Amino acid sequence: MTDEQFLNTHNASILLSAANKSHYPKDDLPEVALAGRSNVGKSSFINTLLGRKNLARTSSKPGKTQLLNFYNIDDKLRFVDVPGYGYAKVSKSERAKWGKMIEEYLVTRDNLRVVVSLVDMRHAPTADDIQMYEFLKYYEIPVIMVATKADKIPRGKWNKQESLIKKAFNFEHDDYFIVFSSQTRQGYDQAWDTILECL
Ligand code: GTP
Ligand code: MG
Repeated sequence: MTDEQFLNTHNASILLSAANKSHYPKDDLPEVALAGRSNVGKSSFINTLLGRKNLARTSSKPGKTQLLNFYNIDDKLRFVDVPGYGYAKVSKSERAKWGKMIEEYLVTRDNLRVVVSLVDMRHAPTADDIQMYEFLKYYEIPVIMVATKADKIPRGKWNKQESLIKKAFNFEHDDYFIVFSSQTRQGYDQAWDTILECL
C-alpha cells in the first residue's frame, strides 16, 4: 500500500494545541508523535512529510513549541508535535510541567501508534535522548528512530554514525532506523512507508 493510495498527504492542517488530556481530540484516529531534543528538526520533519513549507512552525530559536500540536492529515491520521526537550534556558518548574504533559500523552493516549524519535545524526545521542528512548521501551511504545540533518555530513560517514548512534541507545533490532534530511528529502519514502506500516 503506497501513501498516495491510502491518503492525500497534502490535505493537512493544524487541528488544535493541547496542554493536557481534556483538550485532546475525542475520536479514535491513529496518532504518530514526534519526539526529540529542541531544535533537532521535529517541525521540519512534519513539514517535509506533508510537503508544506510552514505548516508546523520551525525556528532557529529552540524551545518554541510549548504545547502538543495535533495535525490532521486527510482525516485519516494525526501527527502530534511534542515540545522539544533538553533546552538549557528553561526553569525547573517549566521543565517539570513539560515532563508531566509529555508523560500524560505518551502513557495514557490510546490513539498513539508509534513515536518518531528524532536525533541529530551529526552527534552522539545526549543523556536526554537516551532517557526518552528508554522511557518508550519501558512503556512498550513502538519507535521509529529518525537521524536528522543527514545533509550536514558526508554520505561516506553515514554508516559509521548510524552504528555509533545505535550502540549508544542499545538499539533494539525490531525498531526502525531512518537516515533523514528535510533539506534534501532523503528518507522521505522510507519514513512514510514505515509510519503507515505502524498504524
Ligand atoms: P523545537 O520546536 O524548538 O523543539 O525544534 P524542532 O525540533 O521542531 O526543530 P525545527 O524543525 O524547528 O528545526 C530547527 C532548525 O534546524 C531550523 O533552523 C531548521 O531549518 C533546521 N533543520 C531541521 N531539519 C534539518 C535538516 O534535515 N537539515 C538541515 N540542514 N537543517 C535542518
Ligand atoms: Mg518544533
